[in-house]
Amino acid sequence: MQPVNAAIIYYSATGTVHTLARAVAEGAEKAGATVRLRKVAELAPAEAISTRPEWVQHLEDTADVPEATLDDLAWADVVLFGTPTRFGNVSYQLKAFLDTTGPLWFQGALAGKVYSAFTASNTAHGGQESTLLALGNVFYHWGGIIVPPGYTDPIQFRSGNPYGTSHVAGDGPPTDVILHAARHQAQRAVDTATALKASA
Ligand SMILES: Cc1cc2nc3c(=O)[nH]c(=O)nc-3n(C[C@H](O)[C@H](O)[C@H](O)COP(=O)(O)O)c2cc1C
Repeated sequence: MQPVNAAIIYYSATGTVHTLARAVAEGAEKAGATVRLRKVAELAPAEAISTRPEWVQHLEDTADVPEATLDDLAWADVVLFGTPTRFGNVSYQLKAFLDTTGPLWFQGALAGKVYSAFTASNTAHGGQESTLLALGNVFYHWGGIIVPPGYTDPIQFRSGNPYGTSHVAGDGPPTDVILHAARHQAQRAVDTATALKASA
């Protein structure tokens, strides 16, 4: 059997979700997947970005990360999406990418793949779960197989979010516990996609 193809597609303004995405990519690779790590296009106006030095810096630091395309979705057996919380919802940069997927959806090309999601917010009760659930609405419409981490590993009792790896950015950069949870989430999603591919 060919290895499972895993696409990690994320948006990050100031680096937190990017750090989570890299840990997710590590977990997917460790589980045996061929991995594409992809950012979505930055759509914010330059005037907005320039007001936050950390946003400018992150854009520069990740200039070499390829931008996500529809081909990445078509190629993937499993897709893990990352977004910062925006008022308890998905960032518009990631949503804009999702809203270009109509042609693939119409062909049924997004159905039957494994999907999972991760996020960050600034505060502990700032909308992580609502963001992940909102992203999940898209997966339902695609006919996706949603694979959340649940409490399937002891790390989940420490990281604490069964809906998807989540970090409180206001507490500082992602901790080892959160990065471990991100790797576990990816491993579980890839393991599920591998089992599905083997039985096809
Ligand atoms: C427009 C906007 C809305 C936001 N809404 C929330 C929110 O509802 N709750 C929250 O805790 N943080 C909120 N934040 C903070 C971001 O979620 C936080 O900065 C982000 O998770 C950091 O991820 P990043 O470093 O990958 O950009 C918001 C930030 C912006 C710019």
